[in-house]
Order: sequence, then structure tokens, then C-alpha cells
Amino acid sequence: MVDVEKVLDEAGLKNPHVREYVAYWAGVTEPERIEVVNASDDARLVAEALEAGELLPAGEGLYYSRSYFKDTARSEERTIVATSKPEDKGVYNNWRDAEEMTSSQLERMRGQSRGKTMYVIPYLMAPPGSPLEAYAAGVEVTDNRPVVLHMIRMARVGTAHVDNLEDPTSFVRAVHVTGDLENLGQGTPDDQRYFVTVADQRTILHFGSSYGGNALLGKIAHGLRQACYDGRASGKFLAEQFMLLGITDHETGKKYHVCGGFPSASGKTNLAMTLAPDAMGSRYHVEFYGDDIAWLWVGEDGKVYAMNPENGVFGVAKDTNELTNPTALDSIKPGSGAIFTNVAYNPDTQEVWWEGKTPEYPADVTGWEDWKGEKISDREAGDDSPWAHPNSRFTTTLANVPNVAGDFEDPAGVPVDAIIFGGRTRDREPLVRAITDLAEGVYDGLTLGAEATFAADGLDGQLRYDPMSMRPFMAYAEADYAAHWLKIIGAATQQPIFAHVNWFQRDAEDGHFLWPGYRENLRPLLWLVKYAAGEVSGRQTPVGVLPTEEELDLTGLDLPADELARILDIDVERWRQEMGFREEHLQQFDGLPEEIWEAHRRVAQALADA
Ligand code: GDP
Ligand code: PGA
Ligand code: MN
Ligand code: MN
Repeated sequence: MVDVEKVLDEAGLKNPHVREYVAYWAGVTEPERIEVVNASDDARLVAEALEAGELLPAGEGLYYSRSYFKDTARSEERTIVATSKPEDKGVYNNWRDAEEMTSSQLERMRGQSRGKTMYVIPYLMAPPGSPLEAYAAGVEVTDNRPVVLHMIRMARVGTAHVDNLEDPTSFVRAVHVTGDLENLGQGTPDDQRYFVTVADQRTILHFGSSYGGNALLGKIAHGLRQACYDGRASGKFLAEQFMLLGITDHETGKKYHVCGGFPSASGKTNLAMTLAPDAMGSRYHVEFYGDDIAWLWVGEDGKVYAMNPENGVFGVAKDTNELTNPTALDSIKPGSGAIFTNVAYNPDTQEVWWEGKTPEYPADVTGWEDWKGEKISDREAGDDSPWAHPNSRFTTTLANVPNVAGDFEDPAGVPVDAIIFGGRTRDREPLVRAITDLAEGVYDGLTLGAEATFAADGLDGQLRYDPMSMRPFMAYAEADYAAHWLKIIGAATQQPIFAHVNWFQRDAEDGHFLWPGYRENLRPLLWLVKYAAGEVSGRQTPVGVLPTEEELDLTGLDLPADELARILDIDVERWRQEMGFREEHLQQFDGLPEEIWEAHRRVAQALADA
């Protein structure tokens, strides 16, 4: 047995509650060694991981890793929110009893770290000094070194974050045990994986994966699921799967902040990153604050504030290139310390590649291996399966993002001017529609319907409702979630404007995207902030205000007139049909606030009258 006390003494980790927690879980999982991690350990841990073959070199200060081939995305089915309150059961949160899940996870994890090192990662999911800091501290214990390296990039890591807590008991206990990945029956009826957040005990117990979305517990399990629960329990904040960006208009000197939720792999990272300074001439400067999580609260001045609790970016690699997202490429350049997961790799040249990185596959396939490690040159003729996994990712810290805002670590957060929702919707949803009423904005979020993506196992392309893009992270019942939104944002004396956006409308025949997307997405956002400021008036429709062609700045774009007309209009018949689906969707949520039903009926009536 490891001498836990001695290790913690040597690491200078003093918080007695953290020590007790670490000792308890070491007793359960029985690691051979224990190590306390600070961000400053990164270089040594990288060297060890390279030595062990867990990471492979991918250029100067760049690294490559593969996760087990049956372990490449989040599993929504296996993800559970457990509490001791049955009223927390929602439609989407896979609610289970806390006691039952805690004891079954304990049995699953018992002795599972034998022969391995348990890394103790104290972290903070907030800029230090944030008004929400009390909800931000955590300690992940994991038996997986690549997970540690990802956590160092994605969160603020170090013992100081848990040794100076105002309430020393107030940290999230986040236990990650990899398990024997080759024998977990992933995707079979005998699946052994369980990813559990025991939300009312602020304890996370994840077993059976080393993929980032399941194993970086600071990120999704704490930053979203746990924080969503804490936000309501405290009555103080919202934790959302939101990107967050700032737009400065050099001509007027004004700065706007926009946050918004799109389901996983639906464009958040690109939106926050790619609207680089020169996106539309030099008038606007767009800054990155966050790409996946925002916590929102109301400040003493009555404004809604937001901050990004993360310290890094875990971005989808596919289609990231000089044209779509030059900023992302810059943030993963040599020397950045970036880690690539499940892309294609060439061990001879130490290069990485993914679909869409260049227009063509590398001309010389010599040396190239696909995401599973299989040689491309060994492929059978006609095998055109992707070289990189569609959910392959890059991991880099915020400081590497060239357009990261100067004040991204300001604990005060930034005032929010607009909240947008969107997703991959091949028809019906126009480019942008503005919504000025709070209940209608929340209603719009709750009825977000989009195509599921490869970020979740086995769901790619399926059309489904994804309330506020939080379906996989919702920690309590949806009706209460809606009420909490109305309460938090309703308390603001200056309300942000809402909008629904869609970059993914397609041509019914050949399937091409009607809107060029990526960097051009700044254009509808500019229209939105102008509309909010009363500078343009748009065109009222039953589902919100749409820009006219004249109002939308299309300088330098050459879109076919009929396609432009289509993304700036709504199909009333199709929307009337949608209202029936929405009604069924909302009826699942017992006790949904009357304001939401009223919003639904207003929109339905406007469509009926149209
Ligand atoms: P996130 O997971 O929500 O952060 O989404 P990402 O920004 O990583 O994008 C996911 C995928 O959608 C990537 O393959 C992007 O290349 C693609 N994507 C992002 N924005 C756009 C867009 O505006 N238009 C199109 N066609 N694809 C996009
Ligand atoms: P994404 O983040 O939203 O950028 O895909 C990871 C996830 O949600 O799994
Ligand atoms: Mn996400
Ligand atoms: Mn992203």
C-alpha cells in the first residue's frame, strides 16, 4: 500500500478534506503510486508519456495520442445524474438514486488502479477571484496520465486551488478510473461503463473510458453537469454549454458580448475562434472568451454577466484549415504543447492530418496511419473510410489562442448583450431570427431541434430536440431548468436579446450548405447587435425578427439570389407542422412554467394567422 499521508505531505497538500478524500479513493482503487499534480509538472509528465508511448511526437512541442478504438466519443446512454431526490428526475438526465449508483460504482472501481499511478489533480473551473469561485474548485483523481496532460491544458491546475478555500469542504470530488478498456463491452448489452455525477453530493464517479469527453471531469462533468445543479441549488447562476465572444466596433468604439449554445460539434469553437480580427475588413475585432462552457449570473448593476470556467480548448479537428479557421491552426502550431487525439498520424515524418485539413489526402501515403493505427498503404482498394475519426480533437490552452480576449481571466466576467441558440438544422431554421421577449427566448432554447453529431456515440445525423444544447448535461428536471432560467435572467434589469441562428441549412437536392458559414458568421451577429441597438428594424415574422437582405452586410460575398432568399425567410407550412412536434416535446416536462406555454401559444397563433 502507498503511504498516502507521506505523499500528500511531500506535495504540500494541506486541505484535510482533500487528503481524506484522496486516501479514501486510494483505498478503493488500490494504485501502486500516488502523485499530486501541478501545472508546472507538465514537461516532466509529457516526457514520461512519450517514453511510455502514451504520446507520440507530432512536431516541435506537439503530441499525438490515440484513445481505445471503442472509446472515442461521449456516451450519453451511459451517463447518469444521481441524487437522493426523485424530483430531480428529468426526461433526459438518466436520473438514478444516489445511494444505489454510489455503491455500484464503488464495486466497479474497487482494485481497478492496481499497478497504476493515481494522479491527484486539484483544479479550478473559474478565473481566480470569480464571484462563482465557491462552485469552481475540484480534485480529479485519475489513473491515466494522458488525462492529466489534457486536464493541465483545459483547467487551472495546482494545489493552491484547494488549499485556500473559504470553505475547505467545498470542492468537487471527481473520481476517474479508466478500467480495462478492452473488456468493458462498449456498446453491447453488457456495457460496463458508467459515468455518474452524484450531483447533490458534488461527487463525480466515472468508470470505463479515457476519452476526453468522458474523462476530463473538470470540463463536462463539473463545468456543466455539476455546475448546472449547483447553479439551481444556490439560486445564483446558470451553467451552460455556451461559447462566449466579444465584438469591438472600431468605428463606434462599442464592445458587444455574445454567448450561445449549439449542441456538441455544431460550431461553437469555430464561431468563438474563427471570426479573427480581419474577418470583415478592419472595422471589427472579434475576441475569444470561451468555446464550450459559460457560467452566467446577474451582477449588482443588473446586467447579465458570463465567464468561461475553462482554461483551454478541446476542439473538433475535422475541417479545420487555413480558410475555415486559421485562428485554430495558429493555436495548435509548433511549440504550443497541443495534443491531437484520434487524427491520422505519420510516425516517419511526425505529422498529423485530418479530413479537411487540406483539400486532398496527403499525396504520398507512405508512413501514414489512420486513427486506429492501421497503415493506409495496407488498406484494401475501395476502402474510403476516414483517416481521422470524425470526432478527433485538438487540445490547447487559451493562452495559445491568438484572439483570446485581453480580459479573459478577469474575475468580473463580461456583460452579455446577446444569447443565441443554434444547431445543425438542414431546413426550416433561417440564418438568424431575433427574439426580444425573455420567455420566448427561453422557449426557443427549450425547443432547439438539431441533428445529433459524432461527438456522441452512435447518434450522428439523428434529428432530435436538445434543450438549450444541454440535453447531455442537464442535471435536473427540464421544467425546473426552464423556471430557473426565467428566474435568473428575469432578475436582470438589462435583458440581453435572444436569437436563433443556423449556419447549416442545406440544398434539398445536392445537400450543399446554403450559407458559407465559418468566418462569415460574423455578419448575422453584427445584424443582431445592430437590431438590439435599434439601428436596423428587420422584418417581423411569427417566429422572430429576420434581417432584410439590405440590412445584412453581404459585402464581398457572392451568394445565389434564390439561396439567400431562402435562408432569410421562413416556410410557414413547415413551421406550423413543427409546432405540433414542439407541443409533444414540451408536454414531457411536467410543471413547465406557464410563461413558456404562453410563449408557445403566441408563436403558434402567429403562425396560424400568417
Ligand atoms: P463545437 O463542437 O460546437 O465546438 O463545434 P466546432 O466549432 O468544433 O465545429 C464542429 C464541426 O462543424 C467542425 O467539423 C467544423 O468544421 C464544422 N463547422 C463549424 N462551423 C461551421 C459553419 O459555419 N459551417 C459549416 N458548414 N460547418 C461548420
Ligand atoms: P464540443 O465539446 O461541444 O466542442 O464538441 C465537447 C463535447 O461537448 O463533447
Ligand atoms: Mn461541448
Ligand atoms: Mn467545441
